Amino acid sequence: MPHRRRRRRIALLVVGLAAIVWLAAGPIVDYIGVSLRWATSDHTFLFKPYLQLGDAPGLADPERAEVVWHAADREANWWVEVRPTPDGVWVRTPTPDYRAVRVAKVEPHRVYHVPIGGLVPGGRFSYRVGIGPKTLFEAEARARVPAGKPYRTVVIGDIAAGTSAASRVAWRIGEAHPDLLVVTGDIVYSRGRISEYAERFFPVYNADTPSSNTGAPILRSTLSAAAAGNHDIVTRNFNDFPDAMAYFLAWSQPLNGPLHTVGGKNTPGLEGSSDRIKAFLDAAGPTYPRMANFSFDFGDVHWTVLDANPHVDWSDPDLRAWVERDLTSARPGSWKLVAFHQPGFNSSVAHFHEQQMRLLADVFERGGVTIAFGGHVHNYQRTHPFTFKQDGKGQGGDGHVNGTWAIDRSFDGDKQTVPKGVIYVITGAGGATLHDTIRASRPDTWLEVTARVVSTIHSFTVLDVAADRLRLKQIDDTGAVVDSFEITRPAN
Ligand SMILES: [Fe+2]
Repeated sequence: MPHRRRRRRIALLVVGLAAIVWLAAGPIVDYIGVSLRWATSDHTFLFKPYLQLGDAPGLADPERAEVVWHAADREANWWVEVRPTPDGVWVRTPTPDYRAVRVAKVEPHRVYHVPIGGLVPGGRFSYRVGIGPKTLFEAEARARVPAGKPYRTVVIGDIAAGTSAASRVAWRIGEAHPDLLVVTGDIVYSRGRISEYAERFFPVYNADTPSSNTGAPILRSTLSAAAAGNHDIVTRNFNDFPDAMAYFLAWSQPLNGPLHTVGGKNTPGLEGSSDRIKAFLDAAGPTYPRMANFSFDFGDVHWTVLDANPHVDWSDPDLRAWVERDLTSARPGSWKLVAFHQPGFNSSVAHFHEQQMRLLADVFERGGVTIAFGGHVHNYQRTHPFTFKQDGKGQGGDGHVNGTWAIDRSFDGDKQTVPKGVIYVITGAGGATLHDTIRASRPDTWLEVTARVVSTIHSFTVLDVAADRLRLKQIDDTGAVVDSFEITRPAN
């Protein structure tokens, strides 16, 4: 008998030890994941090349973009060549420049940023990247579209969760062939770390081959822009997670936002030892904290991308004035669209109390915003057009921003297509676990402003833009259209 008891005790001990090892393995595996990639790649990529807008908010002719890739922190004879038109000649860019990422617990590496120019607005072009005599990577892409030319945008949030749904959605997005991808935050789960970009984002959104299991080669061929969600920038203690805040390292977007001062109010504050913070700031360069808010033009759209996280007080007069100026100074004739993460108007139980973005409703209305896109809530929701009047008390302690709305119920997106007010779209069903699946069939539980909820399947937004018309289609991960509507301009 004592023998059996001892055996049981030993068995329990073994199970206990195994559990401890398993629990501890999570972060270790994260780091090993990055290291292994390095071990197998000599001079090649950590993250393969992809396209970014860079600090180029406005349309231009010729157009420009940035080729970005991440590679080992060592000298190599890197080069980039661009063929601006399909039958043109290859032109070599100046020597690629980089910012080194030397943060703790991640293999030191470099993020190369190479401006490319001479592009025909809306035209097809090719680029290739190599070292010495060797071409390592080649892709085709479409340059930023000029005003007056129709094009397609995909808008989607809450994406790189490492789920099969995330890959399926990315593949479907690739199949939709967008000219621009706009991400409404929660780009990568769950802490916005470099190691998570390595595991969940780049392999899916910049996959070599398209498939419903792997994703699609979107980022190498499509310009993209992203707002920062809570999962992207809420983890910012560099003692615990030295590779956090990778949003500011991976993305290269216009730096025309209102917040320039490190540690200033309304910026995402940095925590941890001064060494760790300095390592992040050195790696981020000018992107932190500026890139959390910005705007850019693409064809007939002026996009304003905002940081909706709670460290920003959108009742701050200076910030509100920046949004107001940004909207009123937009290129005449452009549609004004806004993208941010936490939606103010939400008919789910999940995140219902996070209503801070209602504080900007009046600014959006005065500025002529047509659609404000959000994510955060993992489903699809669309409101009627409406205007919102705050009751004057701002955001209460419970997160609510109370007020009254004037709903335009005559707009149906089909026969009556001129909205009176702003339409708010939540497109947060990009891959993370769905929220409130029951709500789709319970309109009696929705906010009065809500017109449509799709919460039982992952989906993304296709927005076809023309000078006089916006057509929105919500596509689920089987390819079915689950909502659609059209917006036109008022007749003169
Ligand atoms: Fe979120």
